[in-house]
Amino acid sequence: MAITVQSITPSFAAEVADVDLSRPLAADNLAAIRAAFTKYAVLVFPDQHFDDDSQLDFARNFGPLEVTVSKVRKDHKLRLHENLADVGNLDAENRIRAANDRQRLYNLGNRIWHTDSSFKRLPAYCSMLHARSIPPIGGQTEFADMRAAYDALPEATQRRVAGLVAEHSIMHSRAKLGFTDFDESEREAFKPVPQVLVRRLLDSGRMSLYIASHIGAIRGMADAEARQLVEELTAHATQRQFVYGHRWRVNDLVIWDDRCTMHRGMDFDDQRYARDMRRATVSDVAPTCEQMGLSVAAE
Ligand code: OGA
Ligand code: MN
Repeated sequence: MAITVQSITPSFAAEVADVDLSRPLAADNLAAIRAAFTKYAVLVFPDQHFDDDSQLDFARNFGPLEVTVSKVRKDHKLRLHENLADVGNLDAENRIRAANDRQRLYNLGNRIWHTDSSFKRLPAYCSMLHARSIPPIGGQTEFADMRAAYDALPEATQRRVAGLVAEHSIMHSRAKLGFTDFDESEREAFKPVPQVLVRRLLDSGRMSLYIASHIGAIRGMADAEARQLVEELTAHATQRQFVYGHRWRVNDLVIWDDRCTMHRGMDFDDQRYARDMRRATVSDVAPTCEQMGLSVAAE
């Protein structure tokens, strides 16, 4: 049976049904999913009954998987497989993390508009987040379309941002919340990496902003000017007309294109309700500067 794709807006976000992703996919269904993904950038698949292995097997259809950044910290006890990012609020014993828990405070960074893994030299292509348990109130995830946001920029701004290279580090996004508790191995692993501020997507050919809370600087620009520019672009790109807000149901899988969207988690009572969300992330094919034909000096 062929899958069905129902768009949520004409060019951003769609729901995909009539497919069981926990089993090997027919080639024509995978091709249809990839085509829908290229067009809509966010796909919602309701009612997917994954365990960790089947979630990872599905993700591998899209390319090589990332290893969670939590592994960098030597004393961090992983609850999940190293290819799964643990973005809920449970600890290794499945207890709700306390208010002052380090990992909870670190994960609060996910509440600020970002794209995943732009702070890695080889950044992410897409993320695949599965809802195992959800709070009854709150805890939605919002997504913003950076292609539509780019298209809507005044021409003068498009010219201004063309060719700019930003420095991304996960320590920048955490510092915005005053979080600085990184050990030596994290400081080494999270040194800033260069990424273009505007990119052309290899599959659709569309232009997209590539911005995130992880940006701390723009090469060749004074810090104050760079931060002002990134703030302004972020405010522009996250206006309501570019945003889809997803209200989770248990067993939803949502996949998003990290090359051309930003997302943020929304508030919920995380001291009262468990939220168990597991993300597999696929690496992009090359660093963004390389994709855009820029040769960038090491800092
Ligand atoms: C993520 C993320 C937000 C959320 O999984 O990368 O930022 O709502 N999640 O859990
Ligand atoms: Mn994220």
